Amino acid sequence: MAERSSFNGSIGFVLAAAGSAVGLGNIWRFPYLASKDGGGLFLVIYLILALTFGFTLLTTEIAIGRKTKKSPLSAYRRIHPRFQNLGIIACIIPMIILPYYCVIGGWVMKYAVDFISLKGAETASDGYFTNFITSTTQPITYTVIFLVITAFIIFRGVNKGIEKYSKILMPLLLILIIGIAVFSLTISHTDSNGSTRTGLEGLKVFIIPDFQGLTIEKFSITLMDAMGQLFYSLSIAMGIMISYGSYVKDKDNLVESINRIEIFDTVVAFLAGMMIVPVVYVFSGYEGLNSSGPGLMFINIPKIFSSMGVIGIVLGAVFFLMVLFAAITSAMSILEAIVSSFMDKYGISRKKAVLIEFSIGLFLAILVCLGYNALYFEISLPNGVKAQILDLMDYFSNNILMPITAIATCVLIGWVRGPKTIIEEVTKNNESFSRKGLYRIMIKYICPILLIVLLLKSAGII
Ligand code: PHE
Repeated sequence: MAERSSFNGSIGFVLAAAGSAVGLGNIWRFPYLASKDGGGLFLVIYLILALTFGFTLLTTEIAIGRKTKKSPLSAYRRIHPRFQNLGIIACIIPMIILPYYCVIGGWVMKYAVDFISLKGAETASDGYFTNFITSTTQPITYTVIFLVITAFIIFRGVNKGIEKYSKILMPLLLILIIGIAVFSLTISHTDSNGSTRTGLEGLKVFIIPDFQGLTIEKFSITLMDAMGQLFYSLSIAMGIMISYGSYVKDKDNLVESINRIEIFDTVVAFLAGMMIVPVVYVFSGYEGLNSSGPGLMFINIPKIFSSMGVIGIVLGAVFFLMVLFAAITSAMSILEAIVSSFMDKYGISRKKAVLIEFSIGLFLAILVCLGYNALYFEISLPNGVKAQILDLMDYFSNNILMPITAIATCVLIGWVRGPKTIIEEVTKNNESFSRKGLYRIMIKYICPILLIVLLLKSAGII
């Protein structure tokens, strides 16, 4: 059997993992949650959770990957034979996510193309987004192009694909997002009532803690929002970090890399807030900050950009290109988790594994697109969302399967095999691991409790 590939260096690994972590969630959800949940208060809670809860789960998965040198489908079984089924769930999750992530990636690409070809102003017309996603061929075409790009990179392998493209796309993403964030602080706008708002005022909404009317209930909502966001943002509980961890060399310092991944993800989320909150606040006031997800990205933001004239069109092109890079590096990681699982489990070549998952993903992605057209239906989910096929897949993977996977992982490491399994792996070259004690308490007690609450909440039970 061919020797397992590995990342050439720790920078390649950090950028690839950060590329997975930095995705649509950082851009369309983090800024919204921060401004909704009292600005700086959300940021502080998020940061504390990142250093404790996020750090524990991320360390666990990356270390499982490096220790077993296997992808999720086989790795859990290696840690303990009774947890074989957990590997199956951890492989099914990315198989559910990939199709709809590519559909959204296709939407982003469509908007990037619109702005780059100077047709950005059209995207602001009423019903533009709905007309686009309910049309028959366009969404499918863009989805297919997005999936082909992703599959091409994964087909090229760990070094010539994942590592190479992460090293190109992530620094570019960082430059673009810093550029827009700085620019957004300089803008100001006077609305029809004659009131002027500036970008710096918008920045205050984002970072200054708002303790007004803070109750225990509000605090717990903020806590849950921050936890849910962090969980999704670090790409944990879906096998991805296990796969990427399996390509890290034994001599590399894991603790250092994990810190860098977390810093990268958090900095980008923060920059996204610095970029989006001021722009939206200046042009739409507080009400504009009430939307997240597709409504924010494909309806409100394009409207704002096109009201800014030529500058807005350029800004829109840069913005959607940046989001596209974030979406591609995340989609790469989702596909890699599946492809490497197939390769390990069935001993097939990378080419064959990519082809198989490409076909499955393509079929499901077309169904997702048709969910707004020929296969349209609407059902209410327990969490109150009116769902089409895309939302159903999202709910089932994110709100149900991912928390379950994370809880089971905590049980496996915290109680069945013991935290030393992970501690020994990250300190095997005598690296210092100062949060060892914290890790033990988190993985055994605090993470499982927080995750059970998260599961009950995100499933709509409490
Ligand atoms: N972590 C990514 C984000 O914050 C999302 C993602 C989900 C990436 C699933 C990969 C897989 O948007």
